[in-house]
Amino acid sequence: MIIAVTNLKGGVGKSTIARNLAAYFIKQRVKTCIIDTDLEQRTTCDWQERRDNSEVHIPVFPMTTVNALPKDVETHSADGYQIIIVDGVPQMDQVATRTMLISDILLIPITPSIDDLKSFERFLTRFEEVNIHRRHPDIFGAQQIRRTQ
Ligand SMILES: Nc1ncnc2c1ncn2[C@@H]1O[C@H](COP(=O)(O)OP(=O)(O)OP(=O)(O)O)[C@@H](O)[C@H]1O
Ligand SMILES: [Mg+2]
Repeated sequence: MIIAVTNLKGGVGKSTIARNLAAYFIKQRVKTCIIDTDLEQRTTCDWQERRDNSEVHIPVFPMTTVNALPKDVETHSADGYQIIIVDGVPQMDQVATRTMLISDILLIPITPSIDDLKSFERFLTRFEEVNIHRRHPDIFGAQQIRRTQ
């Protein structure tokens, strides 16, 4: 199962939720890893590297490239990860679109402000556009998704 924590807003707790969820599943003995899709900040990769070794080990892998995200997920699934948590990027770009395409569950944290609610509405509009393409199996090869707003 692929669970993505994503939102076009920054600093809303995506990475924190991704890490806590991973810790929970691992403590339940479910083989779980995180893919950090934010190749600029790499905050969850850095977080994993500085963690105390005596704490529960949470595997974190950086996304290879945007186009390789579906392949990354396949690779980690083949390695036996039952739950793959995608730590999302704070913008509406190709990473966010691909994250929507590959995920079984999308978690969208928001803070209680009108600005966040408005950006959440834009996110939902984008999701509805992308959701149509989820039924097309060759979407990754065809790269049909285009931003329309
Ligand atoms: N429930 C919470 N209560 C208070 N502070 C929180 C909570 N969740 C996260 N934070 C803090 O808010 C800040 C941003 O959290 P986090 O890095 O998880 O957000 P993010 O959405 O992943 O950010 P980015 O968009 O930059 O990737 C951090 O300092 C984090 O410790
Ligand atoms: Mg983050």
